[in-house]
Amino acid sequence: MTKTFGKAFRHEFSLEPEYIPINHGSFGVYPNSLKPILRSYQDKAENHPDRWNRFEGHKLARHNIERLSKNLKCDPAHLSFALNASTGMNSILRSFPFKEGDKILMYQTSYASVNQTLNFLRDHYKVELVSIHLDYPLEDDEIVELTREAIERENSNGGNFRMAVFDAITSVPGVRFPFEKINRLVQDNGILSLIDAAHAIGQIELNLGELDADFFVANCHKWSFTPRGCAILYVPSRNQGFVHPTSINYAYEFHADGADCSSFALEHAPSTMDLSAFLCVEAALDYRESIGGEEAIMAYTHDIAIRGGELVAKKFGTQIMENSTRTLTASMVNIELPPFTTTKTTKEVMDFFLNKSIYEYNTTLSVCKNNNKWWVRLSGQIYLDLDDFEKVADIILSIIKQL
Ligand SMILES: Cc1ncc(COP(=O)(O)O)c(C=O)c1O
Repeated sequence: MTKTFGKAFRHEFSLEPEYIPINHGSFGVYPNSLKPILRSYQDKAENHPDRWNRFEGHKLARHNIERLSKNLKCDPAHLSFALNASTGMNSILRSFPFKEGDKILMYQTSYASVNQTLNFLRDHYKVELVSIHLDYPLEDDEIVELTREAIERENSNGGNFRMAVFDAITSVPGVRFPFEKINRLVQDNGILSLIDAAHAIGQIELNLGELDADFFVANCHKWSFTPRGCAILYVPSRNQGFVHPTSINYAYEFHADGADCSSFALEHAPSTMDLSAFLCVEAALDYRESIGGEEAIMAYTHDIAIRGGELVAKKFGTQIMENSTRTLTASMVNIELPPFTTTKTTKEVMDFFLNKSIYEYNTTLSVCKNNNKWWVRLSGQIYLDLDDFEKVADIILSIIKQL
């Protein structure tokens, strides 16, 4: 018998009692029951630093990878840990052997640091970026069509597409991206796929074996309840020779052949650091099973996001960002803000919401502009009830009045 999700669950986390935690998507939280487990690994590292850092910690990290690979339905040899999605994306993008003039397909809605990493590649390695502009709400098929058109246009203009970088779930706006279809499309056109799945594990069901992306990077610390600093790189054997970690270690080997996977595991084994977040993957997944399992959690977080979002939209007299097949909302919902006028810049409006919400209203509000409209992104989670959304709607209206 599982407990009913909702506010009663909030005491299982360390959240301040008065805080309205409506922004799980940014940093995640982990349950209190993991604290002694996390601490026990840190203690082990102190009890015998050599035994732990040379042998036992790494062995346990592999064990946790194996456990995670069952949830992700993939070969554990295709996974390695990374500190966070940013580090994972950088590892791939900055070590992949791009040549001058190679083209990378991207979207303006990708995470700012990912797009900046791409700008770095443009500036330093003279790759060409081809950016697709997305104005939401969009149908999945429209995104596929825009992507197909961009590929055909560039191919008739010299081709050279090497990689496409796209999200599994975009950050702002917080929408599910049709990554399975785009993955297929780009691969069918001979383009490697790199999927930024920072928000995916724990928010949507994944089958990485079936997806067969060329590269896939995901956080466990956002939606899967692990302590922060826990992400994975998924690189199938055929591409492992292409990728080296952001910090090169003793195991580095040059591979002319991308399919040479001989040094991948050792190159990606972390150097000296606190491994304990990685080692909590199993405990986090066990916790999720103990409270009802992945399916039940995702069903609740999706449902509360939809119902909460619709409640807020009704109060605003606006709408949630959805398409006709309702594929955009996973567990983050985007609600159009009522119209307002302000002399503030876009960045100033975003900062205003963030600062006011945190320091004056004890919640966190992430707003963004897309398609010339303002949206607020709210995250569903097992510790939320509808009245949290109701309170937040009033807070948003009050902040708008102060803009
Ligand atoms: C889509 C996306 N990619 C990458 C990141 C970066 O994640 P991290 O800060 O864990 O590196 C985020 C963080 O919110 C994100 O939303």
